[in-house]
Amino acid sequence: MPTLNEIRSTFLNFFERNDHAIVDSSPLVPRNDPTLMFTNSGMVQFKNLFTGVETRDYKRASTSQKCVRAGGKHNDLDNVGYTARHHTFFEMLGNFSFGDYFKEQAIPFAWDLLTKDFELDKSKLLVTIYHTDDEAAEIWKKYAGLSDDRIIRIATDDNFWSMGATGPCGPCTEIFYDHGPEIWGGPPGSAEEDGDRFIEIWNLVFMQNERFEDGTQIDLEMQSIDTGMGLERIGALLQGKHDNYDTDLMRSLIEASAHATSQDPDGPGNVHHRVIADHLRSTSFLIADGVMPSNEGRGYVLRRIMRRAMRHAHLLGAKDPVMYRLVPALVAQMGQAFPELGRAQALIEETLKLEETRFKTTLDRGLRLLEDELGGLPENVALPGQTAFKLYDTYGFPLDLTQDALREKGREVDVAGFDAAMEEQKAMARAAWSGSGEAADASIWFDIADETGTTDFLGYDTEVAEGQIAALVRDGAQLQKASKGDSVQISLNQTPFYAEAGGQVGDSGTLTTDTGVARITDTRKTAGVFIHVAEVTEGEISRGQPAQLEVDHARRTAIRANHSGTHLLHEALRKALGDHVAQRGSLNAPDRLRFDFSHTKALTLDELRRVEQEVNAYIRQNAPVETRIMAPDDARALGAQALFGEKYGDEVRVVSMGVEDGSGKGLDGRTYSIELCGGTHVRQTGDIGVFVTVGESASSAGVRRIEALTGEGAFRYLSDQDHRLAEVALELKAQPQDVPGRVRALMDERKALTNEVAQLRRELAMAGGAGQGDGPAAQQINGVNFLAQVLSGVSGKDLPALIDEHKSRLGSGAVLLIADTGDKVAVAAGVTDDLTGSISAVDLVRAAVPELGGKGGGGRPDMAQGGGRDASNAEAAIKAAGAILGE
Ligand code: ALA
Repeated sequence: MPTLNEIRSTFLNFFERNDHAIVDSSPLVPRNDPTLMFTNSGMVQFKNLFTGVETRDYKRASTSQKCVRAGGKHNDLDNVGYTARHHTFFEMLGNFSFGDYFKEQAIPFAWDLLTKDFELDKSKLLVTIYHTDDEAAEIWKKYAGLSDDRIIRIATDDNFWSMGATGPCGPCTEIFYDHGPEIWGGPPGSAEEDGDRFIEIWNLVFMQNERFEDGTQIDLEMQSIDTGMGLERIGALLQGKHDNYDTDLMRSLIEASAHATSQDPDGPGNVHHRVIADHLRSTSFLIADGVMPSNEGRGYVLRRIMRRAMRHAHLLGAKDPVMYRLVPALVAQMGQAFPELGRAQALIEETLKLEETRFKTTLDRGLRLLEDELGGLPENVALPGQTAFKLYDTYGFPLDLTQDALREKGREVDVAGFDAAMEEQKAMARAAWSGSGEAADASIWFDIADETGTTDFLGYDTEVAEGQIAALVRDGAQLQKASKGDSVQISLNQTPFYAEAGGQVGDSGTLTTDTGVARITDTRKTAGVFIHVAEVTEGEISRGQPAQLEVDHARRTAIRANHSGTHLLHEALRKALGDHVAQRGSLNAPDRLRFDFSHTKALTLDELRRVEQEVNAYIRQNAPVETRIMAPDDARALGAQALFGEKYGDEVRVVSMGVEDGSGKGLDGRTYSIELCGGTHVRQTGDIGVFVTVGESASSAGVRRIEALTGEGAFRYLSDQDHRLAEVALELKAQPQDVPGRVRALMDERKALTNEVAQLRRELAMAGGAGQGDGPAAQQINGVNFLAQVLSGVSGKDLPALIDEHKSRLGSGAVLLIADTGDKVAVAAGVTDDLTGSISAVDLVRAAVPELGGKGGGGRPDMAQGGGRDASNAEAAIKAAGAILGE
């Protein structure tokens, strides 16, 4: 009996033999399709190949695609556990032709694989075709030898396959297996078709059309093939089972659940084990593909599936978390075919355990409330919407969990009442917001959030994705379309653009639709809606259009390096300065980073250097940067640094990096940096490149600011500095390492020379001024020796010393010196002590200064100073001072 793993290999080997490229399953979150919540069939990753928008180096491919059908067009969540063939997660085996072979070969491939490789009994196979598809009927007849009664024509959409409301589509032929008359059921198209006798095993789609938003449909240029066969279904058939959950793979998970809960796998708890086995697969694969439980979008679907499984574990009597303990069994079964599962095992286990632990605290109380409410209601009355809402709002019960709980009792929820209660709560939240003083234009984004939902952020994993334009806003009003030259704000249902938060600036890039292009210059968010600030640069763009979104890669790379650099800087500062260092703000822009932190003193050069060295040592360590979601308290217990001023909800994103030798944080005590952070980061610390500080200053009282560069910016800065140093060394005719010594020596020499020059100037002045041989002669006024002189090449600073020298030479008298320094005039006067009783130096200066274009002057009777602007009237100034002596 082949295992599911063997069946998968047989399928892929068959198509590899027939010249198909074996392509990896794409992630569960579609990168190229904004209209899909999750990848729900094998063709999703090839969508653009069918329409001819994209080509690859193969025209035939085969995959085993991970699919989730929960939420969106194909939603099987409600049936899981209760039926033989519904799953939220399953694998779709498929072969694809992109304009290569068509029906004439697709049908023979399928027939050969089923009847030769899988050795199915030909007489048990029958097919359906789209009612007008004579061509397919002919091939089935000719190649497979099927009689007309085993080729059933179906006129409904059952035989016209489409992925969603839009996209490539086409008529299909489905292959059925007849389990024989002992099982109830009729052939497809009959009234009894829902019975279990005839089971569909393979769907071959002849892709030849494309559907658009407005309902129109065109013929595609290329004719292609898309097929899908559920591995679990064909597995059950080949293993002689009637129920997918009895196949080896599903059975091993059911047994793991039975073991973990100590409950018989086939006892009354069987349905619970089935739900757990299925939900374990969808939740684990979703987490491995980057979805995290949240209260919105994909994250909320994940949470709903998780909580649904947890209720079933609870019904099995589990007191402690169960789901996370089953992950090893899943990895053992599927880890080889899907290595991402093993890589994410720790994350999956942690995420499940956290969600289980937290939900457990409200699950019991919620279920009790539910029992009480039901007890008070007549049998045929639905559970009031208010109660379902209270279970949702207070106890964290997703609506479908409540519905699932009631289903066993054959009862229902008043869904309209639930929706009304939800609306009321939203209205209250909005009222609270508008009262909070935020900008008035924010309210339009609340309307948009209500109308179109919030934005799913894909940018942790990708910089390129498709999104659907949910709203266009200009001047606070919504628009249907915007044209070239228009400045608009655009919201999308999903986006790779990071919206400014936590110090990290918003992304920029381009948005392209079939009809136009917009340049996105910034991204912000309000009410969970990402607002892309844009200008339409070509054509026009309209609401509802799918758009190709591309973040400026170089800019985002630089921002990432700066943001991760900031985390390392934060930790290095704490290590160097102490635990009082706490973040007080930050900026992570493409060209620089800025980090404000509490610390009272300026950092010394030595401290700065140590910090810089430590950051660079962790960069060179090239350790992986890890992100996890956890409860705020758990994050803090690990030693996470909280960001300043951020508000946190039920759970936080925790970013950690760097490995220490035993003195760090985290469970293992070895993690260097752990921070709560919603930003985008490098994958490995080595991606930061190099880190250099370029500024240290005071930001406000008790807060210092460091500015730094990373990556290419840091390299350019260092290289420029190096160049300048080389230039200086060249000028000095020295080696770069000798520059500081040489500069110090030059400075000393300069100081000595300056002193010497000043001394010489004074000497020269005493000798009668530059170029004069003997000392100046004094005149007698009123019996007082008066020496007055105009000097050049002497500064105002030199005057007092010269005055003193002249005074001692005169013995008794008054001195007036005027120093003409070119742009200014300095004046000083001195009076020997024997005369200060009758003459004041201050008066002399004050008399001289006005003639020199100045004002005032001051000092003591024996020595005073003043200044002017123009020395051309120096003679008049001397006269004016002399006149004082004449009085
Ligand atoms: N895409 C087709 C399906 O999902 C094959 O059935």
